[in-house]
Amino acid sequence: MIDSFCVPLVLDCDPGHDDMFAILLAAAHPGIDLLAVTTVAGNGPLDAVTENARRICTLAGLDGTVVAAGADRALLGDRRTAPNIHGKTGLDGAPLPEPTVPLADEDAVTVIARLLEESERPVTIAATGPLTNVATLLERRPDLKPRIERIVFMGGSAGRGNTTPLAEFNVHTDPEAADRVLRCGLPLVMCGLDVTHQALATPEVFERLRSIGGLLPATLGGLLRFFAGTYEKVYGMPAPPVHDPVAIAAIIDPDVVRCVEAPVAVELAGEHTRGATVVDLHGVTGAPANVQVALELDSGRFWDLMLDAVRVLSDQGALSD
Ligand code: RIB
Ligand code: CA
Repeated sequence: MIDSFCVPLVLDCDPGHDDMFAILLAAAHPGIDLLAVTTVAGNGPLDAVTENARRICTLAGLDGTVVAAGADRALLGDRRTAPNIHGKTGLDGAPLPEPTVPLADEDAVTVIARLLEESERPVTIAATGPLTNVATLLERRPDLKPRIERIVFMGGSAGRGNTTPLAEFNVHTDPEAADRVLRCGLPLVMCGLDVTHQALATPEVFERLRSIGGLLPATLGGLLRFFAGTYEKVYGMPAPPVHDPVAIAAIIDPDVVRCVEAPVAVELAGEHTRGATVVDLHGVTGAPANVQVALELDSGRFWDLMLDAVRVLSDQGALSD
């Protein structure tokens, strides 16, 4: 059901265990009109993350989802993946169905541009991977900026990083792309590690997921257990942060996060700091604020949204065997 209160949304992602939950939340919630899922190399190579997106949509019964592949490397050509967190396939931990959801003939930026041109209302772009596709869209089609409502991205950090001591994976993978997005002048919401590390998949979350019953929750539980294992091994975290759906939840219910407006820049040249987001929370630089930075999460409300979405999909059209 597409109502006037629905937010027209494009989700650009690099599935990725947490991107998978972002896709499911965006697809299931009645307040979102998911126009397309586009993919970018990040957690895995482009072909892997794109196949993962198609497999997830197939498993969840999202047969009509438009899936389009985008950049296979960063703007400067770097290729970086995260098998230590997401495994060799980019989504290890449970068997996934052969993808029946088709791949669009055109590339992600072409598909997004057409959706922006055709949408009756400005479109929100959610980005939960490196910002390469979004930066390319802004550079290739600046005329379409008025058709973009805002960009809500999972990335960066006001504090420490997770890929280098100061840089978060999505921004570190393509700092130049993040720099272009941060300078674009559009309304930006940053869901960085400060807020996403409050979206922890605790044993209670696992039990709530399991109790939904059915193939989809069981598969998600297996995938999430893999993700929990790598997070515990790599970071010593007893419960994994499910980063990406926080950006979607913030679109569905802005009150699920508390944001502060601040100047945010990205370091491009530092030997030890490249890819770090510099968040001026106290205005000491005198720079104009360009980002709403999410710092606090209503984790109870977040997990209610996320698990309700899984239940809806499990009851509606998800594969059952
Ligand atoms: O740093 C966490 C982010 O990088 C998440 O979006 C995860 O999926 C990876 O893309
Ligand atoms: Ca991601």
